[in-house]
Amino acid sequence: MKLWGGRFEGGISKKMDQFNASLPFDINLMEYDIEGSLAHVKMLGRQEIISQAEVEEITAGLIEVREDLRKEIKNNIFDVSEAEDIHTLVEMRLTDKIGAVGGKLHTGRSRNDQVAVDMRLYLRDQNDQIKKLILKFMEVLLDTAGEHKETVMPGYTHLQRAQAITFGHHLLAYYFKLKRDYERFEDAEKRINVSPLGSGALAGSSFDLDREWTAAELGFDRACENSLDGVSDRDFVLEFLANASNLMIHLSRLSEEVILWNSKEFSFIELADQYTTGSSIMPQKKNPDLAELVRGKAGRVIGSLNQLMMTIKGLPLAYNKDLQEDKEGLFDSVNTLKVILELYPEMLKTMHVNQAEMKEASSKGFLNATELADYLAENGIPFRKAHQIVGEAVLFADERAKELDELNSEEWQALFKDIIEVDAEELQKRLSVEAAVNSHSTSGGPAFEESKRIIAVEKENLYHILD
Ligand code: ARG
Repeated sequence: MKLWGGRFEGGISKKMDQFNASLPFDINLMEYDIEGSLAHVKMLGRQEIISQAEVEEITAGLIEVREDLRKEIKNNIFDVSEAEDIHTLVEMRLTDKIGAVGGKLHTGRSRNDQVAVDMRLYLRDQNDQIKKLILKFMEVLLDTAGEHKETVMPGYTHLQRAQAITFGHHLLAYYFKLKRDYERFEDAEKRINVSPLGSGALAGSSFDLDREWTAAELGFDRACENSLDGVSDRDFVLEFLANASNLMIHLSRLSEEVILWNSKEFSFIELADQYTTGSSIMPQKKNPDLAELVRGKAGRVIGSLNQLMMTIKGLPLAYNKDLQEDKEGLFDSVNTLKVILELYPEMLKTMHVNQAEMKEASSKGFLNATELADYLAENGIPFRKAHQIVGEAVLFADERAKELDELNSEEWQALFKDIIEVDAEELQKRLSVEAAVNSHSTSGGPAFEESKRIIAVEKENLYHILD
């Protein structure tokens, strides 16, 4: 059955029919489509556009159709070639069950506003689920950061050891990235949650539809203000995909670091067996596939965003069939995000953190050179000059295969004799990794106490949201 055909003499070609169909993927919208129809039919009754008896018949029929479809989908026996799209399928099944009266469901409605409603209901639901998963992820990052607020590690710029930080401080950086992602998904809600129902094909309806009532019934904040806008835009999908892309970029960067840290070259962490895979040829291998896949799938989500931007950018108002291309990339991105957001925190919770290795790496490579320069600057030497002197000190120590904090008092004397009086013991303490980290006590810095403070503040914030 088709929802059109009156003005056609020849049938549609079979290949074209398949090419045109969206049921293989928009079956995903089944629950939302029926939810929208239930509200619409109730409104038709309230407005006396159809009789109460008809409302009841159609409502009961829709509920049965929903039951049938749920079962078929669950048992994997659903046949996607049955209809052109989900809207056609539901109306067809309804009419099969209750007869011609089923055809009244579509009064004052078009598939154009119907599909826009479905997409918004779907995305509101998924957006909400994703927000909850991000919060759980944030909680794991915060807990793990708390456990490692005193675990020193090298901080990097240009992937070169730069200054000592803590593993906790590093994880907190990702916590705040995810916090902003969360806020973006949350902010998008108010633009998703608007009802296009009653926009009709493009020009509203001659029936006395109560758009505000259906909007409220479906939990929307309000009805959209322009029928052409209501059926023609998918900016809320683009916004979701942009938010998803940002999140995936963050997770991809974290993955890149996890991959590096888990390598023998770094040996900062060891991922648990559950989240790694082996090699079919090299028995010794334990590969960080989850992290690699996340890095890879970031490209796919960003690809879906790009695809839809390209699809929409040249469309005249209002509906064009191109818009059917709004679905697969979105569904794929939603599924990708949900799996990743569930798996990733588990991988972080179960990884082993090699504190000794991190500390060793922080103690080698002159990460405390800036500390020494600061020390000289505190003692009245202009920083630029101090920078120069420390450069020479690094060369000096390097030639003796020593780190700065390994120099003895004679060596300090030799270096600084005309510059300042040094107390070798005091300087050694000052240049220790822990002291270096803790001297960086600016707000938002890596000092142990500062991380502790930040974690407490953020825990409080999270509990408020989770409440
Ligand atoms: N499957 C279509 C879509 O996803 C539903 C809307 C069809 N509207 C139309 N005028 N052909 O966009």
